[in-house]
Amino acid sequence: MAANIKVEVCDSAEAVASMAAAKFADLVRAKANAVIGLATGSTPEQTYAELAKMHRQQDLSFAAVTAFNLDEYWGLDGDHDQSYRHFMNSNLFDHIDIRPWNTHVLNGKAVNPALECAGFEAKILSVGGIDMWLLGIGPNGHIAFNEPGSPVDSRTRLVNLTQTTIDANSDGRFFKDASEVPRCALSAGIGTIREARSLVLLATGSKKADAIAAAVDGPFSPDCPSSMLQDHPDCTFIVDAEAASGLKR
Ligand code: PGA
Repeated sequence: MAANIKVEVCDSAEAVASMAAAKFADLVRAKANAVIGLATGSTPEQTYAELAKMHRQQDLSFAAVTAFNLDEYWGLDGDHDQSYRHFMNSNLFDHIDIRPWNTHVLNGKAVNPALECAGFEAKILSVGGIDMWLLGIGPNGHIAFNEPGSPVDSRTRLVNLTQTTIDANSDGRFFKDASEVPRCALSAGIGTIREARSLVLLATGSKKADAIAAAVDGPFSPDCPSSMLQDHPDCTFIVDAEAASGLKR
């Protein structure tokens, strides 16, 4: 399949963050009640800092915006310092004027995970779908916690994390030790993500080069979940030169 993915190669991680933040700021300026999808991890931290700066210095308002996050660790309370709810509050939501009730992060302590996931999907539908979803990518090509083998039509659900993902998140940036990393998560599915009208995936550093090459130039396959964005009508990868180093071009 000829990949539709548009690839923007930037000189630095800072330039990746500026371009990504500009895309979301343009959307919110054009559509005050935009529905945005967000991601956690190290890669989007700078993008969130840029958006918070635009809010402070350029009156960029999120007062009518609704946000949905990709995933949450199963078993972690939103108050846990490694929960994605905590990450989103401290990296973005606490620094902008988004209304807390318009921020949707899956509840990692939900009594009934299937109901929690169905409710998340229903909320996305009830606000008319997601205008633009920010994504990261794992070294194994995962998007959200859709690990290799995830079906193209998967929906929000409880999933197991692979050892690669557990190791990537216990390298000292987040959890100190692999034993502390939860083994499961609630994650939006590939099908859920593909329904967003626009997708923006960020990657920086050489550790992501193989995954970016497989996603853009490899076959459309569940073996590399991000390759299943190849037929999306509006998907942009914003990467630095290191992450782009494996691309054929
Ligand atoms: P990272 O995570 O931004 O921390 O590298 C990305 C991901 O695993 O999706």
